[in-house]
Amino acid sequence: MPSRRPSPLLLLSTASLLLPHPALAAPNNTCTTPFTPLSASTFIAALNPGWNLGNTLDALPTEGSWNNPPVQPSTISAVRSAGYASVRIPVTYTEHFVSGSPNWDIDRQWLQRVSDVVDMVLAQNLSAIINVHHDSTSWADITAPSANISQIEERFYRLWYQVAGKLGCKGSKLGFEPINEIPGTTAEHGAQVNRMNEVFLQAVNDAGGWNGGRVVTLVGAGEDGGKTSMWFKRPDKKFGNPWGIQYHYYSPYDFIFSAWGKTIWGSDADKAALEADIAAVRGNFSDVPLVIGEWSASPTALESAARWRYFDHLIRTATKYNTSLMLWDNGNDYLDRNSLTWRDPIAQSILSTAIHGIPNALPDSTTDPSSPSQSSSAELYHRANSTIKDTSLSFALNANTLTSITHGTRTLTPNTDYTFSPTGTLTLLTPLLTSIFTPPTLGPRANLTLHFTPGTPLSLTLISFSPAPSSLNSTTLPLPPSGQDLLIPIPWSALGTSRPAAVKAVRGDGTYLVDDWTQWLGELQRGRMTYGGQWDWDGRGVLVKSGVVEMVRKEGKGVRFEVEFWPRGEGGRVGVEVGG
Ligand SMILES: *[C@@H]1O[C@H](CO)[C@@H](O)[C@H](O)[C@H]1NC(C)=O
Ligand SMILES: *[C@@H]1O[C@H](CO)[C@@H](O)[C@H](O)[C@H]1NC(C)=O
Ligand SMILES: *[C@@H]1O[C@H](CO)[C@@H](O)[C@H](O)[C@H]1NC(C)=O
Ligand SMILES: *[C@@H]1O[C@H](CO)[C@@H](O)[C@H](O)[C@H]1NC(C)=O
Ligand SMILES: *[C@@H]1O[C@H](CO)[C@@H](O)[C@H](O)[C@H]1NC(C)=O
Ligand SMILES: *[C@@H]1O[C@H](CO)[C@@H](O)[C@H](O)[C@H]1NC(C)=O
Ligand SMILES: *[C@@H]1O[C@H](CO)[C@@H](O)[C@H](O)[C@H]1NC(C)=O
Ligand SMILES: *[C@@H]1O[C@H](CO)[C@@H](O)[C@H](O)[C@H]1NC(C)=O
Repeated sequence: MPSRRPSPLLLLSTASLLLPHPALAAPNNTCTTPFTPLSASTFIAALNPGWNLGNTLDALPTEGSWNNPPVQPSTISAVRSAGYASVRIPVTYTEHFVSGSPNWDIDRQWLQRVSDVVDMVLAQNLSAIINVHHDSTSWADITAPSANISQIEERFYRLWYQVAGKLGCKGSKLGFEPINEIPGTTAEHGAQVNRMNEVFLQAVNDAGGWNGGRVVTLVGAGEDGGKTSMWFKRPDKKFGNPWGIQYHYYSPYDFIFSAWGKTIWGSDADKAALEADIAAVRGNFSDVPLVIGEWSASPTALESAARWRYFDHLIRTATKYNTSLMLWDNGNDYLDRNSLTWRDPIAQSILSTAIHGIPNALPDSTTDPSSPSQSSSAELYHRANSTIKDTSLSFALNANTLTSITHGTRTLTPNTDYTFSPTGTLTLLTPLLTSIFTPPTLGPRANLTLHFTPGTPLSLTLISFSPAPSSLNSTTLPLPPSGQDLLIPIPWSALGTSRPAAVKAVRGDGTYLVDDWTQWLGELQRGRMTYGGQWDWDGRGVLVKSGVVEMVRKEGKGVRFEVEFWPRGEGGRVGVEVGG
């Protein structure tokens, strides 16, 4: 039997709200399953590296509502086979309450589903973290002007009492995280987040089972490292749970979220800024086990060489500061949940080598923010019909040796197909490039794999492109109806590329419609808008999102949108007039 601490009556000012309501089921103190107590540092070290089952049980209103099919044991096997040691299972309860105050009963079938998914993970001998997820921006938003804090605490207590009761007999490889990225912008909010941690601990302990000895990863406002450093307060010692801190890391914002044309990363300044962030959280919590429960640099919109260097650097820096990592995967980024294949195997390989301290060779790419163009050693763009000549790309070897280069099943011949210098310059020779770029069919023409020892292999995609023709420029497009996106048609196949690099919106007087302050940035970023919220693309062309369309409507004058293509600086631009 696990020991169970008595519930103290007057710990918190709203203690009466925190007492189990008479209607609560009695705690289960009769687990027959084993529980091997773990310290928080052992638990958190064993998470590394972890993967997030994102956009799944956290989807609103329920599992399957967003972009992912329901999770199955095969999903978890694929994650385990890729070398992950843990799964964070975000769960949203907002739409699963079947009664209101004061009981806040949760649908029993939903609790059973959560329990079953936890079992899927534990059955594969992986560690798991379960949380309360998007509730943080609905009923549990402590910053909402109408927030009834007493009621949020009452509901949060009841929620965790039921969840922890249901999961109380699971083994010690299951840990709990109180709540995901709960908003908070002031010290007062920070103090309320500390109270949420304590309400959670109270509920978990009251729920019985093995929960009194279960590891928890507590949180600060926004699960942001800086705010956690400023406002986090250690929990009352009466709670015996081993605890660490979880925070999330998506920085620098502009690179990770494709904002303001920031498609480059990896200068010494970029690397130092990342290290300073990770070091500051470690500096504030020198004796606390730390886990970055979410981070990502998605292949969807980010350039590969910059992204792979980011992966490598973040993983090594987190390791240096003894911080475990769990990759965020919304289902569109890394693991294809239908085919169970990884969309970017190089990123997975970098993750598994870097986490074990194995050095990796990495592709160079432009890092200078004042550069007017961007080159990359992950992608070689050849302008169709231009003269084919020997072409060099540089790599940072980091104590690696190139062992071979393969093209499908064929191994390339050194000195005939390529040369490779001891300092990491790869030169692809004219005969090889001629064979790949003839005939001059546009689009990706070949993937070469560079095999290194001891680190990860790298891939190099050879693409034949044609700059955007000026014939696309003359178009004037009317504004679509309110609430709709504007489509700028792009004949992708005539360019050899399938996605834009950046989009900007320029008023007649030359100022920028969105984020005019970006005029102070380098040429690659000036006036560029943010991917996702402001622009997107599909097979038909580039979409200007409805919010930006409304800005144009308010202008009452025409605005020129410029779509810029890869490779930046050479891929050309298309300018269209909208509205007016
Ligand atoms: C309570 O413990 C028993 C014995 O381990 C177990 O069979 C039962 O499922 C537990 N109930 C809950 C709600 O965890
Ligand atoms: C790193 O953390 C692990 C687990 O949290 C702990 O066991 C270990 O002592 C730490 N190592 C260093 C060098 O701080
Ligand atoms: C399960 O994982 C633990 C480490 O968390 C390891 O010590 C143990 O050998 C693993 N068991 C099996 C059956 O793989
Ligand atoms: C706030 O919530 C508590 C607990 O549910 C409730 O008793 C109280 O009436 C609520 N206050 C308001 C102003 O709604
Ligand atoms: C604690 O965090 C703050 C905010 O990020 C930072 O300025 C400070 O340097 C950190 N302290 C230590 C000792 O690292
Ligand atoms: C390349 O040249 C061929 C032959 O002149 C022509 O048919 C083709 O359109 C050209 N392709 C591009 C992208 O310029
Ligand atoms: C290159 O690899 C990508 C990703 O694996 C694949 O989608 C594409 O078809 C390959 N291209 C060529 C030309 O082999
Ligand atoms: C087409 O429009 C783009 C973006 O406004 C501009 O950079 C480019 O020079 C234009 N091309 C021609 C031929 O007018």
